[in-house]
Amino acid sequence: MITEPLVKNYLTEHYGDDSFRTLKGYEAKNGFDGLRKAVSMEPEEVVEMVKSSGLRGRGGAGFNAGLKWSFMPKGNERTKVLVVNGDESEPGSFKDRLIMERGPFQVIEGVLIGAWATGASKSFIYIRGEYAYAISVMEKAVEQARAGGFLGKNILGKKGFDHDIVVHSGAGAYICGEETGLLESLGGKKGQPRIKPPFPAQHGAFGLPTTVNNIETFSHTSFILSRGLEWFQGFGTEKSPGTTMFGVSGHVERPGLFELEMGTPLKDVIAQAGGVRGGRALKAVIPGGISMPVLPASQIDVRMAEEFLSERGSHLGTGGVMVMDDTTCMVRVAVVASYFFRDESCGQCTQCREGTGWINKICDRIEHGRGMPQDLELLSDVPKLLEGQTICAFADAAAWPVQGLMRHFRSEFEQHIEQKKCPFPDSFEI
Ligand SMILES: Cc1cc2nc3c(=O)[nH]c(=O)nc-3n(C[C@H](O)[C@H](O)[C@H](O)COP(=O)(O)O)c2cc1C
Ligand code: SF4
Repeated sequence: MITEPLVKNYLTEHYGDDSFRTLKGYEAKNGFDGLRKAVSMEPEEVVEMVKSSGLRGRGGAGFNAGLKWSFMPKGNERTKVLVVNGDESEPGSFKDRLIMERGPFQVIEGVLIGAWATGASKSFIYIRGEYAYAISVMEKAVEQARAGGFLGKNILGKKGFDHDIVVHSGAGAYICGEETGLLESLGGKKGQPRIKPPFPAQHGAFGLPTTVNNIETFSHTSFILSRGLEWFQGFGTEKSPGTTMFGVSGHVERPGLFELEMGTPLKDVIAQAGGVRGGRALKAVIPGGISMPVLPASQIDVRMAEEFLSERGSHLGTGGVMVMDDTTCMVRVAVVASYFFRDESCGQCTQCREGTGWINKICDRIEHGRGMPQDLELLSDVPKLLEGQTICAFADAAAWPVQGLMRHFRSEFEQHIEQKKCPFPDSFEI
């Protein structure tokens, strides 16, 4: 078992220090050096630097952050907006919470760098409503930043560099993490994703040009600016540079968050969390939050970066690693996952609204001994109807878990149907 951290991390380096959450403490640890560097450059140069750093969004899709910033229209005719996505409702993901609670000024500095680069004068940090503590920490940090002159007019003495941040609380809907659902919710409407195009850079929050990035994505940018491209690219892989926060949960000895390099072998990520509980055998791992297809134990010899995981039919997602030992019933996993998606569908698209319910119903009856042989075909066909057919990627996210479970654990579904019961102990109703 590995007991020492695999790498000396940068994002979380001062998270144990309470003063890091105060403006004074943050500045004492070279806080705002990245912003100072940014304002010494032309905005376009900052966009180019973040783009060529290769920083990929940490909210799930892994899109190049600088490239996204470059989509913002030039000129100042219309107010431009940044939105920081702190909705974090994906089961298995809990990294953004720690960043907001322990490094709120890293988020603020990243936002200001983005504001300088894109010309945005207003930002909204949209935080999952259940994260009451993170909301209060972020609010206090924004107040201190304002009092310290880091928000307001002519920031760092730069004439015309005006910016303010609003902390906004969500109300507990997973779909408000999808960027256009979030923008609707921010505007006071139902959190229902929009048809794209137009994309947020043209028509975003309140109809204004908007860029949405994840909490962690913004937090990396200050390090890229202050320490340089070569330094940043010294971490991770060529296609996925930097570190990321792996949140390890489930059947491990020491669940928690571990900031490790992109591309760290999955086995080492699990080892950081103390390995499988009680020395039991590993059965499967969901590598990036509940939406991502499961990997069986035979395939965990993989590096944790999108380019490697996609070769195995899964994805990095949010880096929420869910570990399951040999006591786990995979049909029950399908029931739990599909219940979540059935419950959280916003209901706009027929395939998603109806399909998520069907998948859950079929999984549930198989788990409880009422499954029929033809259910296996249904479980192969119904998810296909959801994929790529809907307004947003939620439906794909709902299809993938059951597809992955059927691909690798079909025999367990068959066993449930043949035996007319769950062969694992402790079956429970949901
Ligand atoms: C159903 C669904 C839920 C999502 N939830 C989140 C979330 O909670 N936080 C997040 O940052 N991105 C979430 N995303 C991704 C966002 O739509 C968007 O891609 C992301 O915020 C962009 O930031 P990034 O490029 O920095 O990763 C979700 C996407 C979907 C389809
Ligand atoms: S795919 Fe599902 S969650 Fe997304 S818009 Fe359609 S119904 Fe809503």
